[in-house]
Amino acid sequence: MTAAPGLSEGRERRIMGGLKRLTIKTRRWGRAARGIPRLAVAVGLIAVILMTEPSTRGMFAPGLRAVLVGCLLVFAGQLWMRIESERLTPTGLAPYLLSPMGVIDALAVLGIPAAFFAGVPEPYLWLPGAIWILKPAGRMPGLVRLGRVFAREGTALAAVGVLFATIMLAAGAVLYAAEGPAQPADFGTLARALWWETLSLTGSNALHDAPQTVPGRLAAGVLTIAFLGVFGLWTSLMATAFVAVSQRDTFLRNWDLISRVPLFRSLSPAAISEVANALRPWEAPERTVVFREGRPGDSVYFIVSGSVRVHTRPDPVVLTDGSFFGEMALLGDGLRSATISTVEPSSFLVLDVADFRKIMASNPELAGAIDAESLRRREEARRAVHG
Ligand code: CMP
Repeated sequence: MTAAPGLSEGRERRIMGGLKRLTIKTRRWGRAARGIPRLAVAVGLIAVILMTEPSTRGMFAPGLRAVLVGCLLVFAGQLWMRIESERLTPTGLAPYLLSPMGVIDALAVLGIPAAFFAGVPEPYLWLPGAIWILKPAGRMPGLVRLGRVFAREGTALAAVGVLFATIMLAAGAVLYAAEGPAQPADFGTLARALWWETLSLTGSNALHDAPQTVPGRLAAGVLTIAFLGVFGLWTSLMATAFVAVSQRDTFLRNWDLISRVPLFRSLSPAAISEVANALRPWEAPERTVVFREGRPGDSVYFIVSGSVRVHTRPDPVVLTDGSFFGEMALLGDGLRSATISTVEPSSFLVLDVADFRKIMASNPELAGAIDAESLRRREEARRAVHG
């Protein structure tokens, strides 16, 4: 590193260190602030439930009201921060308000005030707060993925559903015609026969009569077998689509993470997809020891977000997002030259030694950049020891 004119190398190092620490602290505060709406959802939902309970409402109504209004203010503030910087659409609305999560966030803020102005009495007034559960649920990656599975296989799932509905209707018609005259309470109309079928399939018709005629029994049997078949088909369709969507997500996520590491920007699209398949994402909480000095090394780490401390002597070095570490062991004697620990929650892309060698061999530009940085670090370490 060459010092800026007028600054000694030591001074510049200290300033850079100070700036990095400030960035890390700011990120920590940012993460803590993001937790507030989640806490408000949990506390708010408990308050909505307690409001409907006469005993707790009787004892704590003023406190519960204060909590619920507080939650509303948190959600209103959160929504305001989201839309405040957005450019308005021609309809005068912020684009976020037109997205599914925007609609949920808007209803979370407006539901209770709307009920209040409509004159809804307590405790029903607070019931629109139940929609708060959708605020975190709508952002859960698992649910979002499930939504994509339905979008992908929707047509096939619907086709199986229509087939089943057809069988149910046909069986209902047979039951109505064959059983209706003798058992009017259960099969006297087509609607009653369909209701009997629903109860039968969900195992809740123990108190109802069973079909007595041969056609009626046949129809009920066919319906039960068709139900099992449909259930199996739905499950297999969903499972296959889930695997496909997950694989695609992993590839896209790796691709996105790779694009955040400047070192990979020189790679061609073909090389990026080779790297995307080889890299393994890994997340570590604050103050995790990634590896210890002197241990054998078998992978390189690229920092996607967060920062790590390299415990070099006499002064440790902090590496932040976009940087990498762990290459010296692979390029040298195989042993780690320093202990590395995370300074804050961090996410990495990890490349194992075999893939590292393959990728270095086929991408000279990347290999050159890693070699040069490794040499610089080695030189720095030598200077630190010999002065
Ligand atoms: P490795 O020896 O495998 O494990 C420790 C890692 O710390 C090392 O690879 C480098 O990636 C990194 N490292 C060592 N010295 C420095 C330094 N002076 N500056 C930045 N990183 C370093």
